[in-house]
Amino acid sequence: MKIRVDLSGSAKDNSYDILIGSGIVNAEAAGEVIDVIKQAGLKGRACVITTETVNGLYGRLFKNFLKNARIEPVVLVLPDGESTKSIKYLSYIYDELIKNRFERGEFIIAFGGGVIGDIAGYAAATYLRGINFIQIPTTLLADVDSSVGGKTGIDHPGGKNLIGAFYQPKCVIIDVNFLDTLPERELKNGFAEVIKYGAVLDGEFFIYLENNYEKILSRDKDGLTHIIRRSCAIKADVVNKDEKEAGLRSVLNFGHSLGHAVETLYNYKTVKHGEAIAIGMIFASMVSEDLGFCTGETLNRIKTLIKNSGLPAKIPGFTPVEYINAMKLDKKVESRLIKFVLVKEIGGFVFKELDFDYIHEFLKKIL
Ligand code: NAD
Ligand code: GLY
Repeated sequence: MKIRVDLSGSAKDNSYDILIGSGIVNAEAAGEVIDVIKQAGLKGRACVITTETVNGLYGRLFKNFLKNARIEPVVLVLPDGESTKSIKYLSYIYDELIKNRFERGEFIIAFGGGVIGDIAGYAAATYLRGINFIQIPTTLLADVDSSVGGKTGIDHPGGKNLIGAFYQPKCVIIDVNFLDTLPERELKNGFAEVIKYGAVLDGEFFIYLENNYEKILSRDKDGLTHIIRRSCAIKADVVNKDEKEAGLRSVLNFGHSLGHAVETLYNYKTVKHGEAIAIGMIFASMVSEDLGFCTGETLNRIKTLIKNSGLPAKIPGFTPVEYINAMKLDKKVESRLIKFVLVKEIGGFVFKELDFDYIHEFLKKIL
């Protein structure tokens, strides 16, 4: 099944398809997946950027898939983990692209989770002032969020995702079968972003998640396919309306203000992105209740779904000052205000600029 990211205005030409299926990336692939690749313009040579784990599990299958599609790969295998999303590995990718004389008409293929998608996408956005790239995600988080919408970038010791660009892929190919080997913790990690869509953008979807989380987390293929399709459709709709985050797209940052601070305070180790976002969503919902935007019942439902999914639900015990200092690194900070996404009952949201004094007092109260 296909979902279109249909960009408007001068970005119209950057529109693209997301193809979702089960077992579509294989050595005898034919039909829709090959059509999508052709329509994206991918032919000849491509630089495949992946990680050790993904290469170990699927390197051979992927090479055969590309061979069948008549694409000759140059494979770059990067270490696993968030610390790969760094200037060091970006520089390594540039070195290899230059060494192998990649040209403007050629492609980068991001084959892995969000870390690979973000760094490979940023390399594509900047090498030769931009070469083509496609996303073939292999984690739930990348399926439902990072592979779609064109946010690319790397981390800086001073903060997460501080260096980056909006740069859309030419297509996204999601094969649910890759999730068969995904560790349980990573599956739950991606599920946090799925909860995000339901909590602030689609109340019915949230109810579906409340009723089906066990089935989904036990890797029921239909359940997984449904949540990936719905999440991509919700995200595509938001990106179609506001590609460069001038307004509406910020809603996708629900849970991210405190979430990014948690990641920073843990030095991008210990806690995973989705886990940090789960904590951040609970915090944002607590603030929403405190400011009268949602009821205690809404807060409880969000907390319960997060807890039931096996995601962390407790705000870590850093001090309010540590949180505030980490939050000040956020891209959404202006003077002493930070733009928060709050939940306005399940399926709805409101943007609110919050003063750091208020956040400090609130943190003091709850920690
Ligand atoms: P990740 O890319 O680090 O992948 C998690 C781990 O799973 C890695 O060790 C990876 O090698 C392994 N793995 C990947 N696929 C596998 C498979 N099929 N089977 C077994 N193991 C597999 O983490 P992630 O959660 O996918 O992505 C997190 C990153 O995404 C963060 O850097 C975050 O900032 C970014 N992100 C970006 C956006 C965006 O819009 N660009 C949105 C959300 C998150
Ligand atoms: N993950 C947030 C966004 O893509 O805007």
